[in-house]
Amino acid sequence: MNNYVRIFDTTLRDGEQSPGATMTSAEKLEVAHSLARLGVDIIEAGFPASSPDDLEAVRRIAEEVGNPTAGEPNAKVPVVAGLARASKGDITKAWEAVKGAQKPRIHTFIGTSEIHMKYKLKMDPEEVIQRVSEMVAYARSLCADVEFSPEDAGRSDPEFLYVVLGEAIKSGATTLNIPDTVGYTTPDEFFNLIDGIIKHTPGMHDGITISVHCHDDLGMATANTLAGIRAGARQAEVTINGIGERAGNTSLEEVVMTLKTRHPVFELETGIDTTQIARVSKLVSNYTGMVVQPNKAIVGANAFAHEAGIHQDGMLKHQTTYEIMRPEDVGVSQSTLVMGKHSGRHALRSRLAEMGHSLDDVELDKAFARFKELADRKKTVTDADLEALIADEFYQPRDVYLLNGLQVSCGTMGMPTASVRLRGPDGKIYTQAAIGTGPVDATYKAIDEIVNVPSTLLEFNIHAVTEGIDALGEVTVRIQGKDGDHTMDAQTEIQHNRVYGGHGADTDIIVASAKAYISALNKLIIAQTEGLQTA
Ligand code: KIV
Ligand code: ZN
Repeated sequence: MNNYVRIFDTTLRDGEQSPGATMTSAEKLEVAHSLARLGVDIIEAGFPASSPDDLEAVRRIAEEVGNPTAGEPNAKVPVVAGLARASKGDITKAWEAVKGAQKPRIHTFIGTSEIHMKYKLKMDPEEVIQRVSEMVAYARSLCADVEFSPEDAGRSDPEFLYVVLGEAIKSGATTLNIPDTVGYTTPDEFFNLIDGIIKHTPGMHDGITISVHCHDDLGMATANTLAGIRAGARQAEVTINGIGERAGNTSLEEVVMTLKTRHPVFELETGIDTTQIARVSKLVSNYTGMVVQPNKAIVGANAFAHEAGIHQDGMLKHQTTYEIMRPEDVGVSQSTLVMGKHSGRHALRSRLAEMGHSLDDVELDKAFARFKELADRKKTVTDADLEALIADEFYQPRDVYLLNGLQVSCGTMGMPTASVRLRGPDGKIYTQAAIGTGPVDATYKAIDEIVNVPSTLLEFNIHAVTEGIDALGEVTVRIQGKDGDHTMDAQTEIQHNRVYGGHGADTDIIVASAKAYISALNKLIIAQTEGLQTA
């Protein structure tokens, strides 16, 4: 058996499906580029039949990320996959979306547990078998690389699975993905399931890759994925930060770092450049507005922090006393002093390039202006500051409204008041003042008065990018569209009432809060007026 585990990233499909993780097409494209730089083998870019926006986003990713870049002809090009239910319509759309990639893949699925067949599909087991053979064959007639998943395999009868998977092989599937859709199994059970499939599926041969896809409902997704890999699976389906339906999917960083850190146990390799992990984690968190919990393995803010005196003492004596991985292995920079106010454009460009951001001249001008502004206010500018600035400046939806000025007065003496100036989509300047329960509330009320798009603020998070009183403040928000018009069709209503994340960074936390809110509102407005793909 080969010792290479393919990393199939589904952040843009299963991850994006989780409540509030909606990304615009431009954001998806940026994440896809980062995933390619990270070295994932397969990017599941979306579910093209779910909406015209999703089809368009997958098509752009297939064309732009799924092909060699000019100037880098030898760089690894990921497979680009599109998900499809086992129906002709879905499969046709998935093919339409991925066919522009150098290595396209159609991933089709159907439920195989009794619960799914009886209640969801209302199909007999024989009908399911028939559908699998017809639809896998149809997908294969379009695309040479076909993946098949028996949904809810974790609760399916293994004997039935062998038959279904045997049909999929006969019809041309080359990857068989085994999902624990509801995160129900234990590692031992999942090991046995994969082991049984490899041993008993008719027609199983070396050209077939067994894949595992686990959900985290009982907190065992990573353990189950690793158990499946030990049983012989050679593809792991994962997401950045473990985002995904309900409690999420297996997290990429946990699987990859376990295989690397415990190499003597597994003796397996992946193609991941682990030094990119922290960066992609931050990008996904900023775009989705889903904050990573501080104690999250590998990418949480405290993952490499040592607080207890005994631990700090041990760390000072030798790093290995309390650290099983080095922070720099996952791209968490230990260097604090990176640049100061005297650093020039060239130094900034090369530091950003080392961090994985290649900017053109116009972008560099903007980044340099922001950097100088920050360096005037803050003694040292760290990698973390630069990441926050880049995210704030470039990883934003297209501007509809733009913050043009903000003044707040607050304290114990009176009523917190904010005066806000925004440049509107028509180029005009709008000014509004409002009183609130605090400075952020007052600012958001003033913005609402100008923008006039009904929404609910679901979540507001603020944190300091680095230590010290002069630190940059980073704010992420999640808002939900609130449209009372029930005459619209279901698809439009979903679009209007989706959850959107926004992100902003500034040394002034009220300015950062305003930027984050405006960025989320911009996404909502664009989605409501034009559809997500144009955001
Ligand atoms: O969890 C699941 O079963 C899935 C399939 C569509 C692969 O996401
Ligand atoms: Zn899933």
